[in-house]
Amino acid sequence: MTVAVCPGSFDPITNGHLDIVTRASRHFDEVVVLVTGNPTKTTGLFSVAERVELIREVTRDNPRVTVDSWGGLLVDYTTAHQVTALVKGLRSSLDYEYELPMAQMNRRLTGVDTYFLLTDEKYGYISSSLTKEVAKYGGDITGLVPEAVRQAMKDKLR
Ligand code: PNS
Repeated sequence: MTVAVCPGSFDPITNGHLDIVTRASRHFDEVVVLVTGNPTKTTGLFSVAERVELIREVTRDNPRVTVDSWGGLLVDYTTAHQVTALVKGLRSSLDYEYELPMAQMNRRLTGVDTYFLLTDEKYGYISSSLTKEVAKYGGDITGLVPEAVRQAMKDKLR
């Protein structure tokens, strides 16, 4: 069975993330969406537990997707679960510059490989932080995040 981990802070998951997870699930038997971050600290808009719940909700129709969280080094999670593949999305050369050293470090530490999927053109400009900023000032984020996430953001920010 082939398993990949799709790691990230997912504060919150966007339609761009969801597209990467869905496409990855066509290439691996299981895709674990892994929310990284300290579970006891709320540093973002949503706590780690809330992010996990939202991702579970928006991926529940995909039987190949599971959701978990982790507060330590990513490679400690992949080693403990015998996972040899990470999947990340690339929107631009900026993402590439950010991701390359992490992928190389992770590979050096344990040999885990990182697979990159190019972001769909529809989602190239979407990020969790931009959607939060737009939502914070009352802008319309319909279509940028799943509907359940849009509603949860509205509730948080009101
Ligand atoms: O979507 P993000 O927030 O850019 O994802 C970054 C993430 C979560 C993949 C990265 O910060 C990470 O791997 N965090 C876990 C701690 C770790 O392993 N750090 C060393 C990375 S080489």
